Amino acid sequence: MSDTARLILEGQEYEFPVLTGAENEKAIDISKLRGTTGYITMDPGFKNTGSTQSGITYLDGENGILRYRGYSIEELAEKASFMEVAYLLIYGDLPNAKELDYFNDSITHHTLVHENMKRFFDAFPLGAHPMGMLSSMVASLSTFYPESQNPNRDITDIDLTIHRLIAKIPTLAAQAYKHNVGLPTMYPKNNLSYVGNFMHMMWGVPAEEYEVDPIIESALNKLFILHADHEQNCSTSTVRVVGSSQANLYSSVSAGVSALWGPLHGGANQAVIEMLESIRAEGSPLQSWIDRAKDKTDSFRLMGFGHRVYKNFDPRARIIKKAADEVLGQLGIDDPVLDIAKQLEEVALNDEYFVQRGLYPNVDFYSGIIYRALGIPTDMFTVMFALGRLPGWIGQWKEMTENREPIGRPRQVYTGATHRGFVSLNDRK
Ligand code: ACO
Repeated sequence: MSDTARLILEGQEYEFPVLTGAENEKAIDISKLRGTTGYITMDPGFKNTGSTQSGITYLDGENGILRYRGYSIEELAEKASFMEVAYLLIYGDLPNAKELDYFNDSITHHTLVHENMKRFFDAFPLGAHPMGMLSSMVASLSTFYPESQNPNRDITDIDLTIHRLIAKIPTLAAQAYKHNVGLPTMYPKNNLSYVGNFMHMMWGVPAEEYEVDPIIESALNKLFILHADHEQNCSTSTVRVVGSSQANLYSSVSAGVSALWGPLHGGANQAVIEMLESIRAEGSPLQSWIDRAKDKTDSFRLMGFGHRVYKNFDPRARIIKKAADEVLGQLGIDDPVLDIAKQLEEVALNDEYFVQRGLYPNVDFYSGIIYRALGIPTDMFTVMFALGRLPGWIGQWKEMTENREPIGRPRQVYTGATHRGFVSLNDRK
């Protein structure tokens, strides 16, 4: 097969190299297109644009395959700890026992945040959205660690920044939660696992010894792994683009948190539960919701359905659906919202509109149900997603930095007014 692509423009022929990925994916390298032809490509939403060559996550949307560094998501979700997966995504291989010990130890030693940050939390209004708080707090970490702002820092400094960020994000997330429920901040407990410590900071109270429930710990471990990376999605691309200006890791990840917040991305898990609750409250037949989702004059979409890259099924949704059943069973919770979710899935999957467009439940359709069963408030769902996605953002930022990728700066086709002379205020109609 040819390893070049030919383009004929205004009667002239140009050749562009074809790149082949490790799994035989093909791309036309048009990085010299503008220089040689004067043209740019137009691809709103970057639906056909590869922004980088990455060795982190492989995703085959047609066949529902997701692998981190070659390991299948199914195997990792079943057998690995979140910290092992974090190490894998960031450093390229699963850690051996010594490497994992060192990693865990380093993370454990950076879980405290500067006491002054408590004053930032005090200043947020009660009921502030925790994603807004998290994004601000992550960005403000850079002010406490100015060395992170030096773009020429060495590898040890970068590792320290990475470990600090992984260590502190659960502390900040739990502080955001405690702020809204009006309970005292819980300091980290370093004898607990990463997930166990987060649970202690979320649900522990100073007067009592918090006991980590292994069912919840294991469910959260799985959820974090399932969310840990997803190649060049909206928030990850944001992290890479912000980082490409050599902005520090904290600021780049803070931008990723903001990108994740939107209901079309990570915010969908909150939107799903809100939608299911409205369906329950209104009591109208499920078909009427499906009809609304299909109606192009109605802005309503079936939240938790559809995905930019999965057009057959989302492998994470399969794992999570099973996990939701198990967790609710183990905790003895009978949630009517889960029943509605199952019925809705059934109706949608048999509807021609959804079948034709390849719209299937995505990871967010079921994750919210588990979070709800664990007693996590709805507005914290996307924060949970951010905790899981952090190693992916970091791994992608590190890869982009090490590859010395150029600053992200797309072009446009200008459609505004052509040149006009300035008209003074008195002469304007
Ligand atoms: N409900 C109803 N119709 C939908 C839905 C939906 N949830 N999703 C897509 N469609 C329709 C579109 O209207 C469009 O129809 P058309 O071809 O007749 O115009 C077609 O399916 C293709 O949809 P696009 O919006 O072009 O697909 P895109 O890849 O741009 O968007 C997205 C993907 C944003 C996830 C979309 O499916 C959506 O809005 N889903 C609901 C929000 C959601 O669950 N987001 C979470 C994504 S997973 C994650 O971020 C971890």
